[in-house]
Amino acid sequence: MYLLAIHGSPRKNGNTEILLDYFLKGINQEFISFEKIRLSELKYQPCIECGECETKGECVLEDDFKELYYKIFKADFIVVATPIFFYSHTSYVHAFFERFQALWARKYILKLPHPFNKKPKGILLGLGGTKGKKLFECVIRSFKYVLDAVYGIYLGGLFFRGIDKRGEILNYPEYLELARDVGFKLSTLPEKEILESPEKLNLNTNSTP
Ligand SMILES: Cc1cc2nc3c(=O)[nH]c(=O)nc-3n(C[C@H](O)[C@H](O)[C@H](O)COP(=O)(O)O)c2cc1C
Repeated sequence: MYLLAIHGSPRKNGNTEILLDYFLKGINQEFISFEKIRLSELKYQPCIECGECETKGECVLEDDFKELYYKIFKADFIVVATPIFFYSHTSYVHAFFERFQALWARKYILKLPHPFNKKPKGILLGLGGTKGKKLFECVIRSFKYVLDAVYGIYLGGLFFRGIDKRGEILNYPEYLELARDVGFKLSTLPEKEILESPEKLNLNTNSTP
């Protein structure tokens, strides 16, 4: 099994990355291999709406996403970790999401199956500086649509409020342990059990968590 972990904050070793790293620490690599991608280190553009993917079945932009598409296709799990910027995910994550348009076109216009017959399972790790009630609604909704483009399934996420200053999440070891535990459970519970009872991962499955 292969897990693609997307780090969506521009801040290296910031709160989101610390949280994601704990999640990854929990993974038993005997069962799941993973790769962490820092979007801020890639060279890629948002979708330019050229429409080429609607006939070619693939994105024609020449950038680092070429390799990322392959990783998305082979992923059994896609984990997106993002801080909240203006009530949404970061622009890095948004551009990442937009590039799924080529995969949406493959599925819905060209009626092509998933190239490796996968149904990737998606997990969100989100945090924000304030206590806003609806802080995570936008990213959850977007991610669900993104996953749908690759025949994927949203399992849920971990969401934390009131985390603002650099490294502030370290003051909440219980949040980090929760993330580590999700990683551990994800890699050790049978896939069937996860799909039938995703609550066993202790993820929040609400659309307004
Ligand atoms: C451009 C920008 C916009 C932000 N917008 C919000 C917001 O709308 N709501 C909120 O709760 N926090 C907001 N924040 C605070 C971040 O979510 C918070 O500082 C977070 O801990 C940053 O995580 P990081 O260290 O992984 O980058 C914003 C921060 C920045 C830099």
